[in-house]
Amino acid sequence: MIFRAPAKIILFGEHAVVYNQPAIAVPVSSLSAQAIIHPAQQGDGLYIEAKDLNMLFPVSLASDMVDNALTLTAQKVLATLNINPPDIVIQLSSNIPMASGLGSGAAVSTAIARAIVHASGKTLSQAQLNSIIYEVEKLYHGTPSGVDNTVIVYETPVYFVRNQPIQKLKVNTPITLLIGDTGKASLTKIAVGDVRTLYDREPVRVHLLFEQIGDIVRNAHTALLVGDMINLGHLMNENHACLQQLTVSSPELDHLVDSALQAGALGAKLSGGGRGGNMIALTTPQQAPKIQTALMKAGASHVYQTEVMP
Ligand code: PMV
Repeated sequence: MIFRAPAKIILFGEHAVVYNQPAIAVPVSSLSAQAIIHPAQQGDGLYIEAKDLNMLFPVSLASDMVDNALTLTAQKVLATLNINPPDIVIQLSSNIPMASGLGSGAAVSTAIARAIVHASGKTLSQAQLNSIIYEVEKLYHGTPSGVDNTVIVYETPVYFVRNQPIQKLKVNTPITLLIGDTGKASLTKIAVGDVRTLYDREPVRVHLLFEQIGDIVRNAHTALLVGDMINLGHLMNENHACLQQLTVSSPELDHLVDSALQAGALGAKLSGGGRGGNMIALTTPQQAPKIQTALMKAGASHVYQTEVMP
């Protein structure tokens, strides 16, 4: 049996969401992390085999590998369920690019957790699973807002506000997005830390930027509910400009954003932690091939197309 969890993209509100502004994020189900359970001999214990890294990690309740997100996930699931490690090997694979704003870490953790829960014959609510993945996310992010784990665990578009109950988002019309990968890995933790430093240095200006982003997200929410794609595109461009001012864009991201707009995208912005990783462009199914070509010509290492359906 395969246990999977999707990638995600943030449509609006990254970074400001750490400071309690809202964000909008959607799952990308065509990219996923997958965990397959293989039975082991009785008494062998629990192992996680990371196929892509060609590594095998033993998991025990007493393990001190707490800096390893894979084993930490397993330990937290075992502790929550109050069980000993089952005798299985979890084979893990993923086609989500790492450290690129697509939620690869949260997806991998979610797939592992689902496999262990199944093997134990117990159940875990979505909310319990979400809080375990959130705890593990702290390893990658330092101070995660919780948006990544929420959209990935629930696999639904969300209007997310930190420390508030999940609000699922229903869009009015199908939305076509292209995700352009700069091919440059970037650690969210560093970008988030730099925004914190900027905020400490220039609290008034940065606070206003966070509020401006909050307004953009609220307007984008309305545009999504009524299906106003033109306005949604403008709001993406405005959000990108705010992220540039927060210093989390990069020449590569700006170049991909400009190229998508020149090729006719309705709007474009970086998505996720920034500095590298991915950007997104809003388009129509008819225009998508043209913009995809423009993004590849502009140096994108990959372009993925995804649809958000009503
Ligand atoms: O880089 P990603 O996609 O994992 O997203 C990080 C989003 C931030 O808002 C920058 C941080 C957070 O915890 O919400």
